[in-house]
Amino acid sequence: MKKIIIHIIRRFAGVIIGLDLAESIKEQKQVENIRKSLKSCGEKVAFRFPLVIENKHLVEIGNNVSFASYVHIWGGGGVVIGDNTMIASHVAIASIDHDYCVKDMKKTVIKKPVIIGSGVWIGSHSFIFPGVKIGDGAVIGANTLVNKNVPDNAIFYGSPGRVVKYRSFSKELKN
Ligand SMILES: CC(C)(COP(=O)(O)OP(=O)(O)OC[C@H]1O[C@@H](n2cnc3c(N)ncnc32)[C@H](O)[C@@H]1OP(=O)(O)O)[C@@H](O)C(=O)NCCC(=O)NCCS
Repeated sequence: MKKIIIHIIRRFAGVIIGLDLAESIKEQKQVENIRKSLKSCGEKVAFRFPLVIENKHLVEIGNNVSFASYVHIWGGGGVVIGDNTMIASHVAIASIDHDYCVKDMKKTVIKKPVIIGSGVWIGSHSFIFPGVKIGDGAVIGANTLVNKNVPDNAIFYGSPGRVVKYRSFSKELKN
């Protein structure tokens, strides 16, 4: 009886490990496809899925950037993301608008590039508007509407967002 139970457990574990492996191979392929399609992509970029990047050929990603799951980038107007930037889950980055003065606005595209600096942290569920520039080291709080430029090292949050304060760098990194 004991042997049968051990056998069943092993078979069950084998199936789970097999599924995990298949999933990780699928994700690896997705990462390779994304990297190949982007305008440029640095080293050590962490992608979590689902991730949607439209017009990848107009999107530039620096080194050591991390994307949590459910990020959506409309890249049609051009998007640049600097080194060491962290993008939390459910962030949307739009570099295009539609012209609502035209009746058939679906056929219109207004392109406005988005530039996100280095060492930026964008909190979950934030929306980055077309044409916005986020400075190096800025912190965008969760659920923020970023509809204007954000200065370097600003802590910016709200809806619409505003500069609340600046980072103080009062602590050392501990190992
Ligand atoms: C912005 C943030 C980094 C902290 O900023 P902080 O100024 O140190 O925030 P505090 O906790 O001191 O809060 C100060 C005030 O701002 C408010 N506040 C903080 N973050 C806010 C946000 N994102 N949007 C609106 N208001 C916010 C607080 O409610 C508080 O208001 P009160 O004074 O009326 O109570 C943090 O709140 C945040 O949004 N982090 C993102 C977390 C995240 O998305 N994680 C995903 C995984 S990386």
